[in-house]
Amino acid sequence: MSKPRVFVTRVIPEPGLALLRDSCDLVIWPDELPPSYDTLRAEAARSEGLLTLLSDPIDAALINAAPSLRVISQMAVGVDNIDLAAATARGIPVGHTPGALTETTADLAFALLMAAARRLPEAERFVHAGQWRTWGPMLLLGQDVHGATLGIVGMGRIGLAVARRAQGFAMRIIYYSRHESPEARALGAEYLPLDEVFAQADFISLHTPLTPETYHLVNDRAFALMKPTAVLINTARGGVIDPDALYRALSTGKIAAAALDVTEPEPIPPDSPLLTLDNCLIVPHIGSASVATRTRIAVMAAENLLAGLRGERLPHCANPQVYERQ
Ligand code: NAP
Ligand code: GLV
Repeated sequence: MSKPRVFVTRVIPEPGLALLRDSCDLVIWPDELPPSYDTLRAEAARSEGLLTLLSDPIDAALINAAPSLRVISQMAVGVDNIDLAAATARGIPVGHTPGALTETTADLAFALLMAAARRLPEAERFVHAGQWRTWGPMLLLGQDVHGATLGIVGMGRIGLAVARRAQGFAMRIIYYSRHESPEARALGAEYLPLDEVFAQADFISLHTPLTPETYHLVNDRAFALMKPTAVLINTARGGVIDPDALYRALSTGKIAAAALDVTEPEPIPPDSPLLTLDNCLIVPHIGSASVATRTRIAVMAAENLLAGLRGERLPHCANPQVYERQ
């Protein structure tokens, strides 16, 4: 019997690929950069399984031009790059990797919070530029993290993991999600309207998925509510913040600083005005980038893919409605 053809859109950690080698006819895109949309579409059209990354646009046109496609498995928890409705309409389950990267991403969110609060990138640039001449009573003063108010927007798995870290710093935790979270209440976090979170927080950390509802949720109106000392951290998706409004807020002192793991667009264009600002720390979408976690999510993605090829329910499915229509 011939093996199902599976297209993997980049080289991923070997333990994930190893799970697929025996049972699949594996085609792996070998470059550092993702395949072009046209290549992706052509590969999808010839494949029964796709193992995708968040940088792959999997739209309705691509899905509908792939007659043999039976499963899409994304090596990430966020699936905003995939048209889930189109996949569901075709009866194609979409896998993702919830939970396995929660703690690693929360670690990065807290690292960004600390780095922006204490101006670490500026301080490092200062030392490397040979500007450290003496201990300065007014040098590079930042903000205290301990005892400050942390506002979490999107109190799901990663939001809760960030809240647990904040407890260790004796922070007051306030949050907004569309629903109150019993787990957050158990941590002592206060559920407030979104505008109150923006207005009261010293640090605001974003943890919602990117949806039509959260697109540019942080905009001029939101920045106008924030404290001038506020620090904004984004490890969710770039599109949750309006980047032009962010530039206006940072460059006019409406807020003190931002620390971003994700940007709109991605990668950030080299001529983005955000890159000219000392108070904007940007790293290249490395939230889940530990060896252990990337290995774990590669294996999860492979397991989802294999289940889909076998016609079994995916262990972690982003469009469970697909099973209701069968
Ligand atoms: P999750 O457990 O589903 O949590 C997301 C939370 O957002 C949910 O609890 C949801 O609560 C809330 N939410 C949804 N829509 C909202 C809205 N309109 N306004 C306010 N809150 C809303 O997901 P997760 O595992 O924590 O991951 C969250 C996101 O982080 C992912 O979707 C992904 O985009 C991003 N992420 C980034 C990295 C990285 O490398 N930087 C790594 C992992 C994940 P309600 O339903 O109550 O609103
Ligand atoms: C990373 O951004 C993810 O969604 O897993």
